[in-house]
Amino acid sequence: MYTLINGSQKNHLSNSRYFLDYISNYLDDYTTYDLMYSKFEDIINSVIKSNIIILAFPLYVDSPNSLTLKLLDYIYDNKIDLSNKKLYVIINCGFREGTHNITALNIIKNWANKVNINYSGSILIGAGEIVGKKSYSYITSIAISKLKKFSICIKDNKTSKDIITTMDLLTNKLYCMFANSSWTKRAKKNNLKKNDLLIQ
Ligand SMILES: Cc1cc2nc3c(=O)[nH]c(=O)nc-3n(C[C@H](O)[C@H](O)[C@H](O)COP(=O)(O)O)c2cc1C
Repeated sequence: MYTLINGSQKNHLSNSRYFLDYISNYLDDYTTYDLMYSKFEDIINSVIKSNIIILAFPLYVDSPNSLTLKLLDYIYDNKIDLSNKKLYVIINCGFREGTHNITALNIIKNWANKVNINYSGSILIGAGEIVGKKSYSYITSIAISKLKKFSICIKDNKTSKDIITTMDLLTNKLYCMFANSSWTKRAKKNNLKKNDLLIQ
């Protein structure tokens, strides 16, 4: 049995959830949780019953976001026994290059070592805001094919290397143009103008 944990505060609307839903297409007998403080006990009960845990979260300031860190602390502080379980990790960040997620991954590997869970591989996704949306599928095929490879590894119960995806099809300049146009569109939806987004 698999427990899939989405550590993003954006819950079911997050990119992390999109990646977990993608992977779950390859699995049977799984439960997916959007992380909330009030659900910690339910999630831990599911983790205890599972042999494979898949943890997805966003990168916040080169680290796991605080909600995810809270769960990791909760497991460590309560000495929950995770030995004989496998852990796969998905980290996504805003920058184009998946390498930005490496520090956060090292934090997870250190934690995994302390709680005795078998760290079994990761995918570190750059440009998560684009790769995590179906509407951009015409430029995300390389990252999605790596996600497929990672999903098959999990399904086959194999250890994966740490896979890194970078939005190679866009230069930094083009990527900034994409980001700026999406912020402007979102501002418009909220009755704001582009100038309203600037710090005065
Ligand atoms: C407070 C905050 C800090 C962030 N810090 C980083 C960062 O250090 N590096 C980065 O590349 N992206 C950073 N991001 C961008 C998120 O990682 C990115 O938007 C991600 O796709 C969100 O994933 P989610 O939808 O699963 O929550 C940050 C976002 C927020 C809100």
